[in-house]
Formats: sequence, structure tokens, C-alpha cells
Amino acid sequence: MQPPRGTRDFGPNEMAQRRRLEALWRDEFRRYNYREIQTPTFEEIELFLAKSGPGIRDEIYDFKDKSGRELALRPELTAPSMRFYFADLKMEPKPLRLFYFGPCYRYDRPQAGRYREFWQMGCELIGDNSPEAHAELLFLALRLFEKADLKDVKLRVGHLGFLRGWLKRLGYATSAEQSPLMRLIDKKELEKLKAALEPVARSKPDDVRNFFELFTIESFEQIKLLAGDAESQGAIAHLVRVRDVLASFGADLSKVRLDPTIARGLEYYTGLVFELDAPQLGAEKQLLGGGAYDLSAVFGQPPVDAVGFAAGFDRTLIALEKHGHPMAGSDALDVIVAPIDPAAQVAAVRAASLLRAAGRSVELEPRPVAVRKVLARATGLKARVAVFLGSKELERGVYAVKDLASGAQTEVSEAALADEIRRLVGH
Ligand code: HAM
Repeated sequence: MQPPRGTRDFGPNEMAQRRRLEALWRDEFRRYNYREIQTPTFEEIELFLAKSGPGIRDEIYDFKDKSGRELALRPELTAPSMRFYFADLKMEPKPLRLFYFGPCYRYDRPQAGRYREFWQMGCELIGDNSPEAHAELLFLALRLFEKADLKDVKLRVGHLGFLRGWLKRLGYATSAEQSPLMRLIDKKELEKLKAALEPVARSKPDDVRNFFELFTIESFEQIKLLAGDAESQGAIAHLVRVRDVLASFGADLSKVRLDPTIARGLEYYTGLVFELDAPQLGAEKQLLGGGAYDLSAVFGQPPVDAVGFAAGFDRTLIALEKHGHPMAGSDALDVIVAPIDPAAQVAAVRAASLLRAAGRSVELEPRPVAVRKVLARATGLKARVAVFLGSKELERGVYAVKDLASGAQTEVSEAALADEIRRLVGH
């Protein structure tokens, strides 16, 4: 039987690679004083329906529990983080920096890089919406991929003020009117967008033409072209400052470009928005997305500044694989310890315990076994070293240590065993 559609099993080797990336990223979040939280994998469905947009309903795994509660597997972690914040973390000193790592579920059509169960590592910064704070957050986003040695990434940065300003000018004043168009923009379905704007194009052809010019803007140098109402002016000032502070962090600005057409699929965003792509990945190239948002109304609370992002863990691993440097992670065994003679059993257990205490991964043959069998098993497990103990060794108080890479065999005393294994394994 296979796992359900859109889900995967991960074998030992893949898990070792996943844990390695997880550890690298966790360490990076810690360096910026983000502290980890964990929330349930399922929540009341209302949490996601309120502000994530109408499209989310189709993408959600929802179910009723035995008491008739309407629940959903979480499609993302921002709404749960804010629920937790308003319930229990409100009194924490601000700005509050939180990060999380965990599985998310979306009823998407599975394809390469798109799963129904996938993992996100992300963060939320609560209580500071300054361009300086945004710049540090963007720098952290870039750092995650630098840390993973994924060089070919592009960070696109925008601000919803531009799109919303333009849609207002075209006659779509409320967010309910804007949201179907924002969805088309998010999916870059420009033909459908043109069709939807057809009636407006008849009365305001110049405005509609200028609106589509937004899709050609690429560099920060063109930002002045976006000047318009006060909201756009504010957005320009914000983004210019973000870019300047990002430079002072030492960010590689050749990886960063302006994109005023980022709409984001989730509806809670308010200002700064950004997405990071691995261009060579094709359709599912977006590795990270985020922005400034406000979810306070969902919880009947006064507004709170918040900004954050989530990185797609699975897609990042695919991108690394495509780049030819998959995440190094190894489930290889350090040592196999085997008694060759029944009398050596106790001493073999002692050797295994001693090596485990020294931090080694050790497989102990539980019963006396022929050398030939031990070597065959060691090859299958890709063990680095084999330690044998027969009656001869037992009499002389030594262990036979075989380096499985070179084939060389030596004898060492129990006191020297751990050091000898360290020398052979190389760390
Ligand atoms: P999102 O853009 O929906 O944002 O998801 C973030 C990342 O999760 C995507 O860039 C992508 O790499 C990965 N991802 C999304 N769907 C799938 C899927 N079906 N299979 C594999 N990977 C996927 C959010 O979720 C927001 N909560 C981010 C955020 C945090 N905004 C503010 N704070």
C-alpha cells in the first residue's frame, strides 16, 4: 500500500538530509533571537476561513470530529501563531520574535514540488513594522538559503499599496471587489485578468494600460514610476529604506529585485510582501513567501504590527538536489561490534557501551557470529569500522579493529578503543 496521494514516506538517508537542513535553519533563526513555538496540527476551521481568502476553502483538509466540531489540518502557520499570540503571548515583551517548523496540509493538485503534506519553517515578528525591522527579516530570509549553499535564488520585494492603489483607481474600491483580481494577479493569469478588466478598459483605456505596465517593472531604479496617491508614496519610501538597510547588512542586492505585482495568495497581508524563487525549479519555484499582515480582527483585538515569512522546506531540498549539492546528511554507521566467541559476549557489550558513551553510533551483534557474516553486514550498513572479539583477543585483553575503508586491521586495548575509532572515523 502506498501513502495517500500527495504525501510521502522518508527513508533513513532522506531523513538524515532533512534533519541536517532543519538543524542549519534552526541555528540561523536562533542567531536572530527567534524562539521556537509549536501549535497543533489541526485547528478550528474558522481560524483559516476568516482571513486567508475564499480560495483557501478548496485547499483545506477539513473534517468534523466525533463531537461535530469543524476542524481543519493547518494549511499554514501564521494564523495559528497569531491565535497563540493573542491567547497567551500578548504580555511578552515586544518586539516578539517567534519561529516554527512543522507539517502543513493543502488539498492542492500534487505535482513536482507540490504536496498535500509539506513542511514549513518560518517566523513571525510581532510589534515592529519599521522598514529597518523588515530589512533584517529579509536578510534572514536570504541567509537561510546562503546557509544551505543555494546560491541561485531571487528575492522579489513589493508592497500591496501599489496594486491596491491601482485597483482603486480602476474602480475596485473594497477588498471584496479587489480579491478575485488579486487572485488572478497572484497566479499571474494575465489573460484572465485582461478579460476581467475589459469593461474598465473601455472607459479608462490609459489607466488599464498603465496598470499592466506594473508587470514590466524589475529594478529598484524604476520605483519612481510607481508614484501616485499618498499610499503609493508611502510604499515607495518604505521600500527604498528597506533596500538601503538591507545593503547595510551586506546583502547581495543582485539577488533582490522590485516586484510591484506580488499579490500573495493569502488575504491577510497589508503592506510589504515578498517572495523568493529558485528560478531553475519551474512551476513550483517559490521557496519562500511572506510579508506584513494584520490578523487582529479575527480575534476581536486591536491592530498589532506583524510581519513574517515561511520557507518551503521540501522545495528547498529539491532545489539543492537540482543544483547538484544535495544536503549532506548521513545515516552511515560508525562501528559494528561483534563477539566471535560465546565467551566474548560480555566484553563485546562493554565495548559497545563504551563507544556509545563516547558518542559513536554502534550496532552490536547480539550473539556470537562468524567474521565473514559481520563483514557482509558491515558492508550492507556502510559501517566505517568493525570491532571483533574472539577468544584469542579476550585472553590478551585486546580488541581487533578493522578499518573497513582500507581493510587494515589492528589490535587495541579497551582504554585506547574510543580514541582509535575517532581516528578512523575522522571526527
Ligand atoms: P505561502 O507562500 O502560502 O505563505 O507558503 C510558504 C511556502 O511554503 C511557499 O513559498 C512554498 O515554498 C511552500 N509551499 C506552499 N504550498 C506548498 C505545497 N503544496 N507543497 C510544497 N510546498 C509548499 C504562507 O504560508 C504564509 N503563512 C507565510 C507567512 C508567514 N506570511 C507571514 N508570515
